[in-house]
Amino acid sequence: MTGATGTLGRAVVPRLRADGCGVRGTARRVGPGGGVEGVVADLGSGAGLDQAVAGADAVVHLASATTQYRRAGEVDVAGTRRLVEASASAGVRHLVYVSIVGIDKIPLGYYRHKLAAERVVRQAEVPWSILRATQFPQLLDERLLPAASVLGVVLGDDGVTIQPVDPRDVADRLAALLDAGPTRAVEDLGGPEVLRYADVVRPWLRARGRKQRILRLRFPGRIARAMRAGALTTNAQPTGTRTWEEYLAERYGTEQVDRLS
Ligand SMILES: NC(=O)c1ccc[n+]([C@@H]2O[C@H](COP(=O)([O-])OP(=O)(O)OC[C@H]3O[C@@H](n4cnc5c(N)ncnc54)[C@H](OP(=O)(O)O)[C@@H]3O)[C@@H](O)[C@H]2O)c1
Repeated sequence: MTGATGTLGRAVVPRLRADGCGVRGTARRVGPGGGVEGVVADLGSGAGLDQAVAGADAVVHLASATTQYRRAGEVDVAGTRRLVEASASAGVRHLVYVSIVGIDKIPLGYYRHKLAAERVVRQAEVPWSILRATQFPQLLDERLLPAASVLGVVLGDDGVTIQPVDPRDVADRLAALLDAGPTRAVEDLGGPEVLRYADVVRPWLRARGRKQRILRLRFPGRIARAMRAGALTTNAQPTGTRTWEEYLAERYGTEQVDRLS
């Protein structure tokens, strides 16, 4: 598995281990630990990829330059090609790639690279499956909402709809895909609720005990327009089961959420 140390990887490793799978995880610096056999590998250079896939039945590819979008061409696209080639040489029987719902509709640079990486996987010699997920609650909680919190307000376009999906629900779906074998298809997985931006922000502020105001804007441009048209959401069934409010209760404590609601 690539990306075993990431938000999703940390949910997928225990899920697969619970199924009795031997899991080997890659990381760029240290072994991922947690009972997982670790291999140091870098998609950006290709170092360690042959050792990472040697003897593997299946490869679950989660790694991505999520915090260094400028490296996405090198890591996500060229790196996926390196991984696919190493997997083909090693006789891997199934490669599962995790992608993002709406990347074909939203013209963000990172999403273009994810789409190009999907193309690499689809053209691979190795039999494949692609699972596109909606946003993880951790991304909203730790990165997007803090970035939107400026000068005592939370900025946002209330026409945008979001469908957070818990990484553990994604892990369950990945386990099922591994069990079933290659689909050679792209499928979507969303969370149980489609939320308007304000319905994401309000409980987040409550859970954190903040009293900031939501400043509702209408962002211009094609990216915001696609997001307002629902490109970050999916009708695919079944959905994940864990809600945004459940995530907040786990993360910040139920008492805090109840007391302030
Ligand atoms: N976050 C979301 O809301 C979301 C939603 C849908 C789909 N996805 C997709 O799900 C996947 C996992 O996302 P995540 O949120 O779990 O990411 P994350 O927490 O940011 O973790 C990124 C992972 O990629 C690895 N990585 C980064 N650069 C690498 C490189 N050059 N070579 C090898 N490994 C490298 C990191 O390993 P190191 O330990 O080496 O840093 C880390 O394990 C990504 O493909 C992402 O596009 C994410």
